[in-house]
Amino acid sequence: MSSAKEKLYLLMSESVLDGTFRKAVFSKPVNKAAEGPIRIDVRPVTVKGLRKLQLTRRIGTQERHENVDAADGVAQMQRFAEFKFRDVHLTTSDAEWSARHGKKGTCKLTKREMTADYSVPNTSHNRDRKYLIPDGEPCPFLMATGIMSSNGRVRAQQYAKFRQINRYVEFIRDVVDHLPGDGTVNVVDFGCGKSYLTFATQYFFRHVSGRDVHITGLDRRQDVVDTCSNIVQQLKLDDIQFRVGDIADFQPAEHIHLAISLHACDTATDDALAAAVSWGTDVILAVPCCQHELAAQLQKDRQPLFSDHGILHEKFSSLATDAMRANLLDCAGYNTRVMEFIDMEHTAKNLLIRALKRTNSDIATTGRSREQMQAFCQQLAIPPLRLQQKLEEYELL
Ligand SMILES: C[S@@+](CC[C@H](N)C(=O)[O-])C[C@H]1O[C@@H](n2cnc3c(N)ncnc32)[C@H](O)[C@@H]1O
Repeated sequence: MSSAKEKLYLLMSESVLDGTFRKAVFSKPVNKAAEGPIRIDVRPVTVKGLRKLQLTRRIGTQERHENVDAADGVAQMQRFAEFKFRDVHLTTSDAEWSARHGKKGTCKLTKREMTADYSVPNTSHNRDRKYLIPDGEPCPFLMATGIMSSNGRVRAQQYAKFRQINRYVEFIRDVVDHLPGDGTVNVVDFGCGKSYLTFATQYFFRHVSGRDVHITGLDRRQDVVDTCSNIVQQLKLDDIQFRVGDIADFQPAEHIHLAISLHACDTATDDALAAAVSWGTDVILAVPCCQHELAAQLQKDRQPLFSDHGILHEKFSSLATDAMRANLLDCAGYNTRVMEFIDMEHTAKNLLIRALKRTNSDIATTGRSREQMQAFCQQLAIPPLRLQQKLEEYELL
């Protein structure tokens, strides 16, 4: 074996072992006529806390993903380089290596040091952070939505959006253990709008977590659905579909494991929560938006400290609504937490309601939550709000 090949194989195994492996791309198949893959990409992924290698085989226009243990991945990479592909491109944390195999079994290995263009610049605290979707690695949906430029760098004016997307993806990562461990993860995104976060969800499951996913993005606006469907076509994504429709009317064809509702307007959040609960959805993530329902019903003399000031009346109504939503989800069989979504400098609507379906019925918690809710509604002298009405209608409370 030539010393260049030996060196390449050593680089592959050592970089995987010491964690400096970033990716490898195998292209130009030796046997062009064969029906096998025309290209294979390998990248590290974390699946349920374990480091794995994800192999993406491109066969025609299809992509097939396989996650394998590190040792198996290294052995497969060495076989691809030895027998299957002429060109190998290996990226480690500090260099890029290109190996070109000649027809007579020769191998030429060249090294290029990482240029500043590929390293994460050290200009601010935020850029130092290790993001699940990193700056500096081309990410198709971020490029298609203009957040990254074509070299994989985040545009300066898009950095806030980039951070928001990454923070969101961390919330998804934190609930992965509450989703089924195998098979396709079915997701619905209610009121998906421009769908940065819908695409981020697909990217996370497919490329960070190495899972098959099927996502329906639902919005009542035809124009946003058209724009998002064009991106799907452009990126050749076969696991997202966008549909025009109202949240209250949507019926999924499959069991939904994860329901998302981010900044859906006013009571659309309640329709999303009620629908997700009625399907027994495993995980619900909702960031409510503007809320007018309670503000309109709350008698001004009940909470004069708030109601004498319009802004406080509005904020109090909003907080009370979210507290009631969280409580109702508890009553309906979920463990619910209200968390800060992203910091206030980007949006004032930054409360995330995270609900994880309980696997056993916790009668004590449910009973306590019901009593708390009744006492709260009596105090405010308000009738059941929309979420409660819907859950009662579905006999879920
Ligand atoms: C503020 S945007 C949020 C978009 C996206 N989820 C995000 O966080 O970036 C709210 C979206 O919800 C959609 N929407 C509101 N109420 C809806 C309903 N009842 N059914 C379907 N879509 C709805 C709107 O058309 C809009 O595109």
